[in-house]
Amino acid sequence: MIPAAVRIVEVGPRDGLQNESTILPVAVRVELIQKLAAAGLRTIEAGSFVSPKWVPQMAETGQVLASIEKRDGISYPVLVPNLKGFQAALAAGAQEIAVFAAASETFSRRNINCSIEESLERLKPVIETGLAHGIKVRGYVSCVLGCPYEGEVAISQVVRVAGQLSDFGCYEISLGDTIGIGTPRKAQRLIEAVAQRVPISNLAVHFHDTYGQALANVLASLELGIAVIDSSVAGLGGCPYAAGATGNLATEDLVYMLNGMGIETGVNLQKLAEAGWMISDTLGRNPQSKVSIAMRASRGPGE
Ligand code: HMG
Ligand code: MG
Repeated sequence: MIPAAVRIVEVGPRDGLQNESTILPVAVRVELIQKLAAAGLRTIEAGSFVSPKWVPQMAETGQVLASIEKRDGISYPVLVPNLKGFQAALAAGAQEIAVFAAASETFSRRNINCSIEESLERLKPVIETGLAHGIKVRGYVSCVLGCPYEGEVAISQVVRVAGQLSDFGCYEISLGDTIGIGTPRKAQRLIEAVAQRVPISNLAVHFHDTYGQALANVLASLELGIAVIDSSVAGLGGCPYAAGATGNLATEDLVYMLNGMGIETGVNLQKLAEAGWMISDTLGRNPQSKVSIAMRASRGPGE
């Protein structure tokens, strides 16, 4: 049942950097993406076309996208919240976009200033227009295992939102534990329920490590046949709902575990760690990845 290979969706340059307090220049964002590509990652979220008033860290994503030396076989999706963002992404040459909706009403209002229903209505034409332009569309559902404002989130709500995004034409639905609160059996119950509505081969998981559960949740998901996993180099991102806590699952930790299990990812862990050290040094902090810290500490002098 456990897949022989996993596709990692690297979200550091988007989900990670959008939550860092330092706003990085375009050149650094481009360098990070290129190092991740050189490390063997095949899907790298390059940024987002959201309101720069809401997320100033992601301003100038158009320039980032235009400056990347694109490699064959690599997808550089960008996040868009509405048609305005879609038009900007199209103009910047995006070939894949990601849209997002929440499974929690309050989170939806705080994150994108509208209800879940309104967000789905807004996303339908974005997805349809994207597909009409030959653009691949990935969908996110956030707060699938809990909400920072509402606490428990009903599984039926996640199934409904994931199903709608899939019906609208998203080729893959990423289930986001936005606050990192889930535990393995709960994650499995959720995946089993969503898989009744969206085929498991079209599902991805997106765990945050806020409560130290991300790798355990990944293993539980692999056991059900999930073969696409989101993660962020150096655990970039932090958690805006728990000051000082860690954010997205670190890609280094994920690759180390998958390597140890003999699961193919195509990622070179050493090159990945180096990308993580570069961006962590630029941000002036340690990587939020145990594997990365251990690898750096075990380097010989002068290396
Ligand atoms: P609003 O204020 O309700 O929108 O924001 P509006 O339509 O009234 O527009 C307000 C202003 O924003 C206007 O400009 C628009 O032109 C502009 P003004 O007239 O004031 O100068 N605007 C835009 N500018 C650039 N790009 C756009 C865009 N749209 C409108 N696309 C809006 C609504 C959705 C725009 C806003 O709430 C927003 O941008 N939210 C994004 C928040 C965000 O990026 N959150 C993080 C992503 S979700 C996430 O991280 C979870 C996930 O990673 C999964 C997980 O981790 O679990 C996916
Ligand atoms: Mg995330």
